[in-house]
Amino acid sequence: MKKIIFLPLVILGIAITQELQAQDRTPWVAPGVVLGRENPLKGNEEVAKEGKKIYANHCGSCHGDKGKGDGIAASACNPKPADHTSDYVQKEVDASLYWKISEGRGPMPSFKNALTEDEIWKIINYIRTLKAKKP
Ligand code: HEC
Repeated sequence: MKKIIFLPLVILGIAITQELQAQDRTPWVAPGVVLGRENPLKGNEEVAKEGKKIYANHCGSCHGDKGKGDGIAASACNPKPADHTSDYVQKEVDASLYWKISEGRGPMPSFKNALTEDEIWKIINYIRTLKAKKP
């Protein structure tokens, strides 16, 4: 008797999980209120080198060391890690990237406790160097 009640609950659970995962595939948009923030290190290429090291330690496993979204853990992620060389990411303002890195979403962890503000801005300066080179 118990099994008869249990099965529909499992099916309902799977349906809800799939629905939530489907929602996660929607574009990820930072709330307007955070977008006014200026990058205090904007244009500083020196710190981009430090950013590269922090990126390799904390982001490369999913996003790949060159930011293409092809790290070793990428295939386990749903949705897939963003390609940081893409126009989509490169056209985003620094404040939007800052917010996404701080908050995380789905498989993407939140870094607001793991990294300092400075470290996050340095990573963003590194991401700016990844712009795909047009042949
Ligand atoms: C465990 C794997 C994982 C790690 C580690 C990780 N990310 Fe992500 N990242 C993701 C996934 C998956 C997404 C797509 C999330 C989504 O769209 O819901 C993402 C999305 C992003 C985006 C948003 C791109 C956009 O505009 O849609 C940025 C920016 C980003 N990651 C930066 C970073 C940085 C910087 C680090 C290191 C500090 C990092 N990520 C570490 C998996 C990861």
